[in-house]
Amino acid sequence: MSEIMRVNVGLGERSYDVLVGAGALTAAAPELVRHFPRGRAILITDRHVAGLHLERVSETLAAHGLEVEPVIVEPGETSKSWAGLARVVDALLDHNIERAEAVIALGGGVIGDLTGFAAAITKRGIDFIQIPTTLLAQVDSSVGGKTGINTTHGKNFAGAFHQPRLVIADRDLLATLPLRERRAGYAEIVKAALIGDAALFEQLEAAGADGLDGAGLDAAVAAAIAFKARIVAEDEREGGVRALLNLGHTFGHAFEADAPKDVIRHGEAVAAGIALAFAYSAHRGVCSAGDAARVEAHLRAVGLPASAAELAHTDWQASSLVSRMRDDKKNMDGRITLILARGIGAAYIDRAADEADLLSFMETQLS
Ligand SMILES: NC(=O)c1ccc[n+]([C@@H]2O[C@H](COP(=O)([O-])OP(=O)(O)OC[C@H]3O[C@@H](n4cnc5c(N)ncnc54)[C@H](O)[C@@H]3O)[C@@H](O)[C@H]2O)c1
Repeated sequence: MSEIMRVNVGLGERSYDVLVGAGALTAAAPELVRHFPRGRAILITDRHVAGLHLERVSETLAAHGLEVEPVIVEPGETSKSWAGLARVVDALLDHNIERAEAVIALGGGVIGDLTGFAAAITKRGIDFIQIPTTLLAQVDSSVGGKTGINTTHGKNFAGAFHQPRLVIADRDLLATLPLRERRAGYAEIVKAALIGDAALFEQLEAAGADGLDGAGLDAAVAAAIAFKARIVAEDEREGGVRALLNLGHTFGHAFEADAPKDVIRHGEAVAAGIALAFAYSAHRGVCSAGDAARVEAHLRAVGLPASAAELAHTDWQASSLVSRMRDDKKNMDGRITLILARGIGAAYIDRAADEADLLSFMETQLS
């Protein structure tokens, strides 16, 4: 077992800890079982994760007197739906869950978002515990309390803010994660560093591709979570500063929306989006070209795309991408909100992007 790091998300009576490191589940088991007064835990997971990790997780918890009752859903975004939500809520009620007991989410962001939303509405709110099994879920989606499902109107269009009671980010669970998924999650660590932790970015640069695993990854995961925790503590419901966490996401969502389904991973779109946000900041003269080049170089060093042309889909139209940016949930008064940067670790919110300038920048980028 490596050193286990503990990060607190300070939200008054809704505060909770995130435990990070290889072996975190074993270390956290004694405090986890306290949330289950009946000695049993209903655990929501997906079929892939169940096949890979359910047995070991159940054994670890059984050693602490907790019997796991699994509910297994299909992997993928289709489970983050009204039908998937009904299935999980019904399963919790079928198991006669009581308001004093929590439910466990074991899986990637899909399982965390779905279980969290089910917990928010079942019996008007029960507790939940996140055991994230993808790097993206460990550094991003399991922390901060955004839960939800997709609707025909778009991704994450129905949901609730519902904070978990405990998050266990155990690196051992990532051992089975394909490299592509690992890199996609790593993009969110780079994002956190670039928004407001220049020292972390220097550490990531120094580690290069070696930072994708091992103790170095634990330190980066803990730092990225601590960074997100500070932002969430300041602005839980995204009235202001939390929007910074969308660095790279306006460009990234446009790529995701314009590409055929399932061709590019969210983290890959975000990586290219981060590079574009820095390139656009340099184009606007607010950020040095040197910082934008460092960002691109690091993304490439870890195997992430650093431009539209490096994504798995390459048939882009500037006008279509800018029109997708106009549809972004973060926009206010019909104007495109962009997260830009004055340099590494110095992101800021631009609430009124100049659309004509953005379009000509995108045309240059794609030519
Ligand atoms: N709530 C938030 O703040 C927030 C933030 C970012 C993203 N999200 C959401 O997160 C979701 C994406 O999460 P994701 O990237 O984790 O995807 P995911 O949950 O779909 O997992 C990706 C794939 O990896 C598999 N998997 C999970 N853990 C594994 C492991 N340890 N080994 C091998 N395979 C494993 C899953 O079965 C799945 O097939 C999206 O729905 C997105 O909207 C939410």
